Amino acid sequence: MIPLSLARIAQITGGQLDRGDPEATVSGEVVIDSRRVAPGGLFAAVAGERSDGHDFAAAAVAAGAVAVLATRPVPVPSVLVADVPASLAALARAVVDALPQARIAGLTGSSGKTSTKDLAAQLVERLGPTIAPAGSFNNEFGLPLTVLRADAATRYLVLELSARGIGHIAYLCGIAPPRYGVVLNVGHAHAGEFGGLDQVARAKGELPEALPADGVAILNADDPRVLAMADRTRARVVTFSCAPEPARGAAVRAAGVSLDDLGRPSFTLLTPEGSAPVTLRLHGAHNVPNALAAAALARELGLDLDGIADGLSTATARSRWRMEVRRRGDGVTVINDAYNANPESVRAALDALAHLTQGGGRGFAVLGHMAELGDTSRASHEDIGEYAARLASPGPAGAGLAGLIAVGQEATPLLDGARRVPAWTGEALAVPDGATALEELANRLKPSDVVLVKASRAAHLEGVAAALLGEAGQ
Ligand SMILES: Nc1ncnc2c1ncn2[C@@H]1O[C@H](COP(=O)(O)OP(=O)(O)OP(=O)(O)O)[C@@H](O)[C@H]1O
Ligand SMILES: [Mg+2]
Repeated sequence: MIPLSLARIAQITGGQLDRGDPEATVSGEVVIDSRRVAPGGLFAAVAGERSDGHDFAAAAVAAGAVAVLATRPVPVPSVLVADVPASLAALARAVVDALPQARIAGLTGSSGKTSTKDLAAQLVERLGPTIAPAGSFNNEFGLPLTVLRADAATRYLVLELSARGIGHIAYLCGIAPPRYGVVLNVGHAHAGEFGGLDQVARAKGELPEALPADGVAILNADDPRVLAMADRTRARVVTFSCAPEPARGAAVRAAGVSLDDLGRPSFTLLTPEGSAPVTLRLHGAHNVPNALAAAALARELGLDLDGIADGLSTATARSRWRMEVRRRGDGVTVINDAYNANPESVRAALDALAHLTQGGGRGFAVLGHMAELGDTSRASHEDIGEYAARLASPGPAGAGLAGLIAVGQEATPLLDGARRVPAWTGEALAVPDGATALEELANRLKPSDVVLVKASRAAHLEGVAAALLGEAGQ
């Protein structure tokens, strides 16, 4: 964080200083979670669904915050503003303007932003001091809070940009204008709110549109809606592809992808500078395009091939509940992918489950609902049920699915879809909640079985995975 006096914060935000010393300086993190306040920081009070940050203003100052950014008077030093997110955006923009040496990369897509951001950050850190968000800090709060962590030493910002509607990504690009923009894919995440995939593509394309002429748009050549964004940017276009022979070529590619027994991909990274072997520590074939995107970005920022290949092979999963694979003492393997779910990511997770059962174990999928799909929700859940049941069909998918345990509000369509596959001989169960899913599993699991736990965050199935692994509830 660049030190800012309260007077300067009031000036940047157009706010009014209340009770505070104008010369008092904020030099610690800006946070919206009062439990995360550090001495010298600034606490931004936000009214959420469950609680109102203003109620924690005094506690935040007691914990060391210099002041509170607030929209109504609080009994401690504060800067009173009209709108907290707009004020965070203004502060972040002021920080960006004060740090012209920092190169800014933005990353968006329907699935895999956080996974890719974590990979990219671990590559870019090899080039110099890098600021990247913790977890999924990717919206009108998380992005400015991340940017505000930058200081004079920062050379790179690797930012995650999310959208729930048209204009959101353009707004985030206005806060921290990226010179490098990565678009991973256009899928069904939040498609209900957008009103279809073409609208999702319109929204994600705001990132390449925001890039300057001397910028670089890094696009997934395997996703036609992403590749089409090449026509929506002034920036130079660089593509990546997992296809053996991409129709229009691609600068960064993967050849000879194989997965180990825990689903970790190995491949040969192909770039214009040469090729190098990579073995990811992440699980699931879907992390290959994520790795290529991260590689393409790091390459543009100047990391050499060896650094990229080594960096990808040593990078670890920094954010939890995304394809965490753990083997229990009794030989049961648990895939905890309960962070979120949309049709693409559930298919990717089921593919990983199928791979992990190739050693002979039986596969169980505990699937909760996929949120925010709008009118297509029922059909999408049926399709996923069918996809899961097809994993049991003879073929490269291996032993297949022994059980589909559908949890909660969309259990019926999931099972209806599975029943469309007459050849499937697995067991189909609908249960009301995670606790019941656990009871059902306890009666069934044997050594070498593999359990996938996957749902949208709203379903809170991460507790099921934690209980399966004997971890304390989280
Ligand atoms: N390229 C991909 N294709 C399909 N699924 C993916 C891909 N990359 C990651 N996933 C899966 O999508 C889920 C979310 O991953 P991640 O958190 O990286 O995505 P995100 O785009 O940051 O999500 P959010 O919109 O919640 O921020 C995980 O289950 C992960 O395994
Ligand atoms: Mg994310």
